[in-house]
Amino acid sequence: MSGLGAAVIFLEVLPKVWFNTANMVMRSWVISSEKGNFQTKQNYFHCMGNHVTISAMTDEKEIEFLQDKQSFNYTYDKATLDSLREHFRLKDSLYLIAKDRKQFVAFCSTDRGWWEDNFFFIREILVDSKFQKLGMGKKLMTRCIEHAKKNGATGVVTETAFENYPMQKLCEKIGFKKWDNPQWRTGITYKLCF
Ligand SMILES: CC(C)(COP(=O)(O)OP(=O)(O)OC[C@H]1O[C@@H](n2cnc3c(N)ncnc32)[C@H](O)[C@@H]1OP(=O)(O)O)[C@@H](O)C(=O)NCCC(=O)NCCS
Repeated sequence: MSGLGAAVIFLEVLPKVWFNTANMVMRSWVISSEKGNFQTKQNYFHCMGNHVTISAMTDEKEIEFLQDKQSFNYTYDKATLDSLREHFRLKDSLYLIAKDRKQFVAFCSTDRGWWEDNFFFIREILVDSKFQKLGMGKKLMTRCIEHAKKNGATGVVTETAFENYPMQKLCEKIGFKKWDNPQWRTGITYKLCF
């Protein structure tokens, strides 16, 4: 092959190689940044300088994490934890836990253990006092509602004390309406129908 022929091939091939390489680099960059985005939106975000991870519990032993934590007007005692374990085993339950490394940030659970057909019950929600009023409760509750919707529920219900103003605010901001519950009149029942 003459020197001229080699130069022509070199000039023809080089741009293609360059283009393909650049294309591969771009594609892997797009894929990894999409993954990064997904994690930011779904499971991982910054909050007050903390790196908070949200995950769905897969093992009921993780419920122990809540032991003796204080909710609005009760403690996560043995009876409360036993009830959480029992409802965790129901089909389609979702128990979300948010942590900053090993430190507890928030918890929210939903399950099908409600007496009206095809409703999910938001049984527990607890945000650590350092993380309250930062949108954490809304984030977790919204994910539980989306989960119920995806599983074909008719709606979602939750209950709270007459004095629990933060929980009432949270429910109303999300779009729940007060519901006259014939089975429970010692607090407020909120319902959200899809
Ligand atoms: C109720 C609770 C879960 C709310 O969680 P949170 O992360 O602080 O709530 P968010 O920051 O997501 O707030 C959601 C909305 O409610 C409002 N809200 C929350 N707490 C409020 C408060 N103390 N006063 C006024 N409004 C409040 C917020 O302003 C926000 O509205 P916005 O979207 O217009 O900003 C939290 O206070 C908590 O864990 N309390 C102790 C446990 C408890 O009571 N659980 C419920 C048992 S039934």
